Amino acid sequence: MEFIYFLGRFHVVVLHVPIGIIVALVGLEWAARKEKYRSLAAASPYLWSAAAVSALVTVLLGYMHFAEGGFEGPSGTQHRLFGTVLAALTTLVALLRVSKFASSYEPLFFPASIVLLLLAAITGHFGGNLTHGSSYLAEHAPQPLRAIAGLPPRRPKVTNLAEADPFLDVVGPMLVQRCSSCHNRDKRQAGLDLTSYEALMRGGETGGTVVAGRPTQSELYYRITLPPSDDAFMPAEGKTPLTADQVRIIEWWIAAGAPRGATLAELDVPPDVEALIRAEVGLDS
Ligand code: HEC
Repeated sequence: MEFIYFLGRFHVVVLHVPIGIIVALVGLEWAARKEKYRSLAAASPYLWSAAAVSALVTVLLGYMHFAEGGFEGPSGTQHRLFGTVLAALTTLVALLRVSKFASSYEPLFFPASIVLLLLAAITGHFGGNLTHGSSYLAEHAPQPLRAIAGLPPRRPKVTNLAEADPFLDVVGPMLVQRCSSCHNRDKRQAGLDLTSYEALMRGGETGGTVVAGRPTQSELYYRITLPPSDDAFMPAEGKTPLTADQVRIIEWWIAAGAPRGATLAELDVPPDVEALIRAEVGLDS
């Protein structure tokens, strides 16, 4: 199984090959309809074959990658469905293109390439949701675009520490930055989504992700304070960990009852933690 997982991860590398070939096919089939570029059509059967082979390899690797788990959400299902249909259709058109009937289907190849490009875009959209979370692209978008994507208004930068919200301005952004690639709405490793307060408090499979008031009983705190070499250390897979200062802030936040909707002024923040928070939100310079 280890070896299947190993190969499966190449899905995210190899998938760019069929996409590139399909883009090239759209251009080639479009041009080849003009008298002047007619000669380009000679390359078409080869390119279609390459598209089909690379799409099939990508889908095969995709299923291997899926076996690793953690992709069970709706985006995973859609991504698999569209990707499989895309590879099947590409193969069908390629078979037609290299067959002896190719000339009678000539007008079909350009529209077919467009349809496949659209399918590739849809598949890529769901795949992107899996790896980055569905709000990834809209994250830094201008406000109106964020609203269309269903994202809450961006938090204004903290200018006055006393008014900062300990979750929305401090702890939440750390978790999004360091953890959300594996723990988001669409890709929930161990059932855990760390991109909102509600989801964090709902917790993961093991439960007790955050036990308000009790850092040492909180699975989340336990995971980020293990030795980095421990298999259960978070973030997993050698991803950039939280800094010691961030861990200290999280410890304080959980001990303070995991508040949200309060301001720092209303909470009892020890001076050392306050200094760390000040640096964390960029008020130090
Ligand atoms: C590279 C992917 C990845 C990243 C990044 C990541 N995790 Fe995880 N996380 C996992 C996987 C896989 C599991 C399930 C395996 C396990 O429990 O160790 C998991 C499990 C967990 C669990 C246990 C949930 C439960 O209920 O069993 C917690 C808590 C957790 N992660 C917290 C975090 C935090 C906090 C961060 C950011 C500092 C983070 N993770 C970043 C992959 C990741």
